Amino acid sequence: MGPVTLCGGEVTAPPLESLAVPTVATSTLPWSWYTDPTVLELELERIFRRSWQYAGHAEELPEAGSFRATTVGGVPIVLVRDEHDTLRAFLNVCRHRGSLVCEGSGKRATLQCPYHAWTYGLDGRLVAAPRFAKEGLEQSETLGLVPLALESWGPFLFVSPDPDAGPLADFLGEVPAQVADAGIDVGALRFHLRSESELRCNWKVSAENFLECYHCPVAHPGFSAAVDVSPGSYLLDAGGRRMSQYGPPRPEPRGSYDLAGEVERGQFHLLFPGTVVNVMPGRPNLSIGPIVPLEPERTYRSLDYFVAPDADEAWVEDLLAFDAQVAAEDTALVERVQAGVRAGLLEDGHLLPESERLIAHFQSLLLAALA
Ligand code: FES
Ligand SMILES: [Fe+2]
Repeated sequence: MGPVTLCGGEVTAPPLESLAVPTVATSTLPWSWYTDPTVLELELERIFRRSWQYAGHAEELPEAGSFRATTVGGVPIVLVRDEHDTLRAFLNVCRHRGSLVCEGSGKRATLQCPYHAWTYGLDGRLVAAPRFAKEGLEQSETLGLVPLALESWGPFLFVSPDPDAGPLADFLGEVPAQVADAGIDVGALRFHLRSESELRCNWKVSAENFLECYHCPVAHPGFSAAVDVSPGSYLLDAGGRRMSQYGPPRPEPRGSYDLAGEVERGQFHLLFPGTVVNVMPGRPNLSIGPIVPLEPERTYRSLDYFVAPDADEAWVEDLLAFDAQVAAEDTALVERVQAGVRAGLLEDGHLLPESERLIAHFQSLLLAALA
């Protein structure tokens, strides 16, 4: 990998010329990139504000007039189901003086900013603004909420702050087909719950931890007793933005939820930069959610769990308990990594060429996006 210049004229972030860039794929990124606010600013600008990201699911907007304020990659957005049942996404920023327009979720005929009551239709148009006529102003078409790209995969809603992000289908690549091939009809799944967590680590530490199972035999005894994590069975594959892992159940899984069912092997995808899609062996199931940088050393994660409509409740609870155990183990791991990389005396670390090749792929995507 050749040198990459990270200072672009159009970006307002401070220059990064002083940062060394790894020259071989067996090195990690410089560890200073896991604490430096300048790097995070560039990542937000050049990666998160330009990419599709998971923004929630259709059931959260059940009827005409439903809205939900959320964020994608740190950008405040509002999702709306308009009078014609069309789902829309807008930048949740008032065109007057920049207040957030909506908070939480609910049902409204219009979206009114709480600061000076500029009022927007469900199509984003500015429909009322106090004192405009009195002060000789017109409600210009150009003062509506800024529309953002929104597309769906089954019930899963994706938003890109960048209208030029390309079709969602290109971003998802082979993932929908692989999920369908596993016997899962995403449109038939029922939403079960959203699990949310905040991690005391850089978002890349969390992503890179997701991208290898080298740590599984050491750090996830329960997962490794259920899923065959040996190198010959647990497969890694990457293409474009997609980084995938595939794990079959052990011939005789021990001490976990019941892995028998239509889905024969697990699949765990990361779509760059931060959309996670997991399928566990067993009854049809899928969990999906974002990895969101909050601060250089603070990251938000959520997973929306979907299961087969006829999945037994006890089975679902066992699956969630199994996943929660793995997540708790991963939280401890990533926070220990952050504590180590922030120490400052070592420049970087090392990657195994095979077992950690998805991390190398992730890092090359990151470097290309920042370049
Ligand atoms: S900032 Fe929204 S109405 Fe003034
Ligand atoms: Fe893990």
